[in-house]
Amino acid sequence: EKPKPAPVQGVGPDYRSESQKPTATVSTDVDFETVTVLPQTPQLIALLSMIRDRNTERGDFIFYSNRIIRLLVEEGLNHLPTVEHTVTTPVGSKYDGLSFQGKICGVSIMRAGEAMEQGLRDCCRSVRIGKILIQRDEETAQPKLFYDKLPEDIAQRWVLLLDPMFATGGSAIMAVQVLISRGVPEDHILFINLIASPEGIKNFATKFPKLRVVTAFIDQGLDEKNYIIPGLGDFGDRYYTM
Ligand code: URA
Repeated sequence: EKPKPAPVQGVGPDYRSESQKPTATVSTDVDFETVTVLPQTPQLIALLSMIRDRNTERGDFIFYSNRIIRLLVEEGLNHLPTVEHTVTTPVGSKYDGLSFQGKICGVSIMRAGEAMEQGLRDCCRSVRIGKILIQRDEETAQPKLFYDKLPEDIAQRWVLLLDPMFATGGSAIMAVQVLISRGVPEDHILFINLIASPEGIKNFATKFPKLRVVTAFIDQGLDEKNYIIPGLGDFGDRYYTM
């Protein structure tokens, strides 16, 4: 066996000694097999730091959120089924690869979830995207379904449910109930979000034990107004207006 080359000083991820490496807030550990947290790379942590910073202006917030969304969609797609697929390259050689199996669609929870649609389109050409509008009912304070527009054959599709902030999970739970009522099997739904709360994850995983969640980070918790802590404030306001 060849000896490993000595790490080159000043190059690559090992460029600092262990004792000099910067530290960062860590994602909360949860014990659900269905929950995937993106690898906490220096890139991802730097992107999260940009969008969490209260001083980040709107243009940068959009740019860096979009980068994280892209990573989330790419990871989400890894949870879809594939089949063996061998191709012949231009030099006449074979490559044993894979191809995706099954149709997919996105469903965004309005308004903030719509910010994730382009990231899905960038990865899946001409993907169908449905929408669900859920708002708090003024009288009952419970989430209420106001509007939905979903592909008519959604029951035959894998669904990537899009909502950036997974706080209590109230809207996501209602959205999943709508999808299930239209015939989508629970295990064909992937809920993709940027930042989750441990409470939301637990509520959701208890209700839908077969539904997969892909997130970039699980935060500490919720405040009295159900904002995620440390979070990033109101995602929709920061993406669309501020
Ligand atoms: N929605 C947001 O935009 N932010 C939160 O912290 C919680 C829900």
